[in-house]
Amino acid sequence: MTDFDFATAPALETDRLRLRRITVDDYEDWLAVWHSPGVLDYLIDFDGLPGGEVASAIINWADRIVRERSGIRWAITLKPNDRMIGSCGFHLYARRDRRVEIGYELHSDYWRQGIMTEAAQAVVQFCFNQLDVHRVEADVVEGNAASAALLTKLGFTLEGNWRERVFKRGAFHSLWQFGLLAPDYQALQKAKRGT
Ligand SMILES: CC(C)(COP(=O)(O)OP(=O)(O)OC[C@H]1O[C@@H](n2cnc3c(N)ncnc32)[C@H](O)[C@@H]1OP(=O)(O)O)[C@@H](O)C(=O)NCCC(=O)NCCS
Repeated sequence: MTDFDFATAPALETDRLRLRRITVDDYEDWLAVWHSPGVLDYLIDFDGLPGGEVASAIINWADRIVRERSGIRWAITLKPNDRMIGSCGFHLYARRDRRVEIGYELHSDYWRQGIMTEAAQAVVQFCFNQLDVHRVEADVVEGNAASAALLTKLGFTLEGNWRERVFKRGAFHSLWQFGLLAPDYQALQKAKRGT
């Protein structure tokens, strides 16, 4: 198994995007992402519109997971601009099980242009190719059609519905569990290459 050196936490390049490390300078832009219409609808860990303290805590979290070697959250930037328009990454890296969870959010000005498809594809590719994980998973709050469509497009399988699994914002919420296994990912890549 590859033991990835998190100290290098590399930038990822796609056709239109550059995914780079998040820094304290992204503070305002990340707040703008969360405050853009609709972004928090299904991000139920947020009790309401986040302010400065929450932004600082999450930037610290993004820094900490790299130091703890349990994840990387990248800032999504639209080349050649370096401003953050969203974020995407993995966390909860379980080495023994070779499993990670992914998460993402995008400023709503940029929705439905294939941007998260491009960003999440790069992150998923990183997880399978650089970390050599066996499984990538994502929990989606029931009803989040955009996130479910994105994961389905990336080849994830809807594996089940954890009924009323979390209590947030004064109510129970069910979670859709999505997963993608390494052999399925490799088969998809092979089919794409037509080999
Ligand atoms: C989920 C999210 C990241 C999708 O980003 P995006 O860049 O707009 O997604 P894409 O343009 O790459 O679209 C991917 C697929 O989802 C579909 N899709 C996007 N938004 C959709 C919506 N609201 N309803 C149904 N399908 C949708 C697209 O049509 C596309 O499928 P297609 O190519 O087969 O047509 C974005 O809606 C978002 O930031 N939501 C708020 C945060 C969030 O919910 N994060 C996930 C928590 S689990």
